[in-house]
Amino acid sequence: MSIPTLALNNGRALPAIGFGTYNLRGEPGAAAVASAITTGYRLLDTALNYENEGAVGDGIRASGVDRADIIVTSKLPGRFHGYDETFVGFEESRALLGLDYVDLYLIHWPLPKVGKYLETWRAMIELRDQGLVRSIGVSNFTIEQLTRLADETGVVPAVNQVELHPRFPQAELRAFHTAHGIVTESWSPLGNRSEITAEPVITRIAADHGVTATQAVLRWHVQLGAIPIPKSANPERQQENIDLFGFELDDAEVSAISALESGRLWGGDPDTHEEF
Ligand SMILES: NC(=O)c1ccc[n+]([C@@H]2O[C@H](COP(=O)([O-])OP(=O)(O)OC[C@H]3O[C@@H](n4cnc5c(N)ncnc54)[C@H](OP(=O)(O)O)[C@@H]3O)[C@@H](O)[C@H]2O)c1
Repeated sequence: MSIPTLALNNGRALPAIGFGTYNLRGEPGAAAVASAITTGYRLLDTALNYENEGAVGDGIRASGVDRADIIVTSKLPGRFHGYDETFVGFEESRALLGLDYVDLYLIHWPLPKVGKYLETWRAMIELRDQGLVRSIGVSNFTIEQLTRLADETGVVPAVNQVELHPRFPQAELRAFHTAHGIVTESWSPLGNRSEITAEPVITRIAADHGVTATQAVLRWHVQLGAIPIPKSANPERQQENIDLFGFELDDAEVSAISALESGRLWGGDPDTHEEF
């Protein structure tokens, strides 16, 4: 199976679909990660705060796939915001993963009230320049915050990973990303899965294409140009979620899914959300 790629602003690329690992921990977590890799996922998403980087590293080693062929994402949590603190938080992730370098490293949340994301970003640039991180980006950043990073440092994030699903398609933010060469990643791409996949609009589109409702939703992300990172502990569902490249939605179908917009599901407004 061939998975298309999206170019990053630094000459590297990401596959059009990745694998989320939130809640995959311990030996079952490592087994789920290994299974995802053998299924064909090459982009993995973890974070220090998921408390599973050890399991992700073990899963990579158990998969038998060359580490160099896998793109590992991790994220710096709020308690390590600040220039010097960023290096400490990064080393913790790197040690837990058991890897020499991290492929994509993101600031997990902007925490504007803490007011340190700019100096944190300067340290991320340094990590990249030292070769410890291949690409740097952010998560949950607004247009205003992205603009500030670029204006103050001249370095535009390669990626902004944000809440994105049919209830919250983020059209304005995606348009900004496109205009500035930032790749969008969709977290919780299935949203509140059981509710979304029961939507008549989605079940009808899925039936018309002979795919599952989940596949229709994930294909919608791909056609928006956003990289979904669905999490599944189950090998069959992992296979289902990556099998998106043999059908195509038409423009009316993409618009019909986008029209399900109602707002954020998880309440994590980047201007106010705090987690450390
Ligand atoms: N940057 C951030 O702030 C942030 C925030 C939240 C999440 N994330 C990342 O985004 C990833 C994905 O988000 P998420 O885990 O919240 O939600 P999600 O991927 O939208 O949904 C995961 C849920 O859907 C189920 N599922 C997956 N595929 C399915 C299928 N084909 N059929 C039926 N059920 C299916 C999973 O159950 P099973 O495991 O049983 O299949 C799980 O309960 C996370 O794992 C994490 O890596 C990032």
